[in-house]
Amino acid sequence: MQGQSRLEIVDHPLLRVWMTRLRDQQTDSETFRSLVDRIATMLLLRAMAQLETVAETVQTPLAQTPGEALARPIAFVPILRAGLGMVASAQRLVPQASVWHLGLYRDDRSLEPVAYYNKLKKDALAEHTVFVLDPMLATAGTAVAVLDMLRVAGVVRPQVIAIIGAPEGIGRLLAEHPNADLYLAARDDRLTTTDDGWPSGYILPGLGDAGDRLFGT
Ligand code: PRP
Ligand code: URA
Repeated sequence: MQGQSRLEIVDHPLLRVWMTRLRDQQTDSETFRSLVDRIATMLLLRAMAQLETVAETVQTPLAQTPGEALARPIAFVPILRAGLGMVASAQRLVPQASVWHLGLYRDDRSLEPVAYYNKLKKDALAEHTVFVLDPMLATAGTAVAVLDMLRVAGVVRPQVIAIIGAPEGIGRLLAEHPNADLYLAARDDRLTTTDDGWPSGYILPGLGDAGDRLFGT
């Protein structure tokens, strides 16, 4: 991964159709999980178009032929809980990747992230291309805290794969971590405030609480 940071709102007819079903409050948990899986695959494939490869020669049954291998190992970092819904698609694409779970939840009142699980050691991912998996980027408090942890783990150019971002969170993430690349399926209108009659800090129109919808809670 080289060059300037990128923000990409990935566009594809299938993605637009899947996003419509994902947002629909009538969509049940099983279908919701399947949609998150498909959307994550599309976003990851787009982000992985930037991966560097090195030359590798392979012997077919008939002849030697030039091929390619990934230049760097890959690590996936799903954020508990909702990022778990994106792990299967990531592992399907790169089965040999390591998976480092990070546990954070957002405090209901302060909207500040509370970290409860992190096994990453200093510089553990310095050699890796790292993909952060979390479908929702709202205030970006969670994502900023995660990228702070990844910086300690030696990650220079994190790849953030989210599904929906609020303008407030997108702006904050790229301001605080200008070295990050961010891939989304949608940039929504704004975050809720108390005036909306909903708890504040939810993405509008959004899809509600991603973790609850994935796991039926
Ligand atoms: C959700 C979501 C993100 C975070 C985004 O997790 O999966 O991690 O909120 O909000 P932010 O951008 O304002 O930080 P949540 O806090 O609901 O945790 P949970 O899935 O474990 O319940
Ligand atoms: N977390 C969610 O799951 N949904 C939102 O809209 C905001 C944060």
